[in-house]
Amino acid sequence: MRRRAVVAGVVLASTLSIGVARAEMEDRGYATTSPALDAEEAERVRRRIADEVAREAERAHERARRDAEAERLAAEARAARPLGVRLVEDRCTACHGLERIEATRYGRLGWHFTVVRMRLVNGARLDDGEAWAVAEHLHDVHRASLSWQILEWVALLAVVATPVAILRLSHRRRAARTTVGAPDPEA
Ligand code: HEC
Repeated sequence: MRRRAVVAGVVLASTLSIGVARAEMEDRGYATTSPALDAEEAERVRRRIADEVAREAERAHERARRDAEAERLAAEARAARPLGVRLVEDRCTACHGLERIEATRYGRLGWHFTVVRMRLVNGARLDDGEAWAVAEHLHDVHRASLSWQILEWVALLAVVATPVAILRLSHRRRAARTTVGAPDPEA
């Protein structure tokens, strides 16, 4: 009698709990077996994905616009700098970095000579006006000490004076030889 009552109680309890669980699942929308509801949910998900894709496209567009704006501002800033700075960056960095130039100090002569050397020996591409502007600019911003500048002029003087001196010397020797070898007008 007691046993029967216990079995009946267990059966009742399990039936009740299954009923409650099922009701909960339906509440939470788990147990949807209706095709209309499925289609609605799928449509909602599809719309959410489409929205997200559209928002991402919008963000990418905004990023591109901001990048273009930054590029434009940078180009404007570049164009606003002095001609010499721009020329050095455009014409003098094909073979070595700017640091090579920035680490160097010359006087006016030295810079003109260096730019001429870069053009004639190394093949830098600048027209005459640009070469002049570059050398003058570098003389302004990377100038050597006064003693070095004097040394440059002394070196130039030596380079010009030596052949002149050699020419004059050989000319005088030749003149002396012709005088010695000439017939004596008194004889
Ligand atoms: C076509 C390649 C090329 C270009 C362009 C070029 N250089 Fe050079 N530059 C070299 C080479 C190669 C050397 C190392 C050998 C030498 O000194 O000639 C050098 C070395 C130098 C040096 C260090 C040697 C020194 O004389 O003090 C300076 C400074 C220099 N270059 C400045 C310039 C400047 C200014 C420009 C722009 C007008 C320029 N370069 C453009 C190839 C180039």
